[in-house]
Amino acid sequence: MISIALDGPAGAGKSSLARAAAKKLGFIYVDTGALYRAVGLKFSRKGYDTELNCDIAGLLSDTAVDIRFIGEEQHVFLDGEDVNALIRTPEISMMASAVSAKPAVRAFLLELQRKLASEHNVIMDGRDIGTVVLPDATLKLFVTAKPETRADRRYKELTEKGMDVNYADILSDIKTRDYNDTHREVAPLKVADGGIVFDTDNLNFEESLKALMSIIEKEVEV
Ligand code: DC
Repeated sequence: MISIALDGPAGAGKSSLARAAAKKLGFIYVDTGALYRAVGLKFSRKGYDTELNCDIAGLLSDTAVDIRFIGEEQHVFLDGEDVNALIRTPEISMMASAVSAKPAVRAFLLELQRKLASEHNVIMDGRDIGTVVLPDATLKLFVTAKPETRADRRYKELTEKGMDVNYADILSDIKTRDYNDTHREVAPLKVADGGIVFDTDNLNFEESLKALMSIIEKEVEV
């Protein structure tokens, strides 16, 4: 199986790029952030905030997270419910970042991610795909851009969906999540050994996709 790991900070364009590249290659696109978001939703539904003052292992033992592909689209199921439409809010973004720092949560989601990569050719996006989940991935990329560029993209994405959001809040959330994601003890966000840094700061989507496809064509025999 071929696996392409796409790691990087929030809003770097990983998911749109991975989705489009997977379509061109005929691969499955796996958005692993959605798994952490589903767990974040579970904890939020149970009434916990980002402090997570609770029995994490106990709650996880009563939690089922799964991915199913409907058409080409990944749907995340939490305890049997399709929660795709509920996990993109700023609140759940912060909850996902908080739960993702917990070793028990990372261990809980590891096997599902590895199983998907063992069964399909995948482009998998996340924070620790090239470092922890698939250290032997065929290609490991670290997609990045400045926080302001990423906040700008996220703002456009959310307002296009009709959400009432504020740019300054989004930028501050992105900076907080960058800090959390890079400073946590378990599987912090960093460039994998043998990983290639791919900076999309001055590239629009089409240019980024073109650049990504040429790296893939050069590095991977598809
Ligand atoms: O990619 P995203 O913004 O949907 O991810 C949500 C959160 O989940 C993010 O703050 C970091 C965490 N995450 C992670 O720790 N490891 C991954 N492989 C994917 C996401």
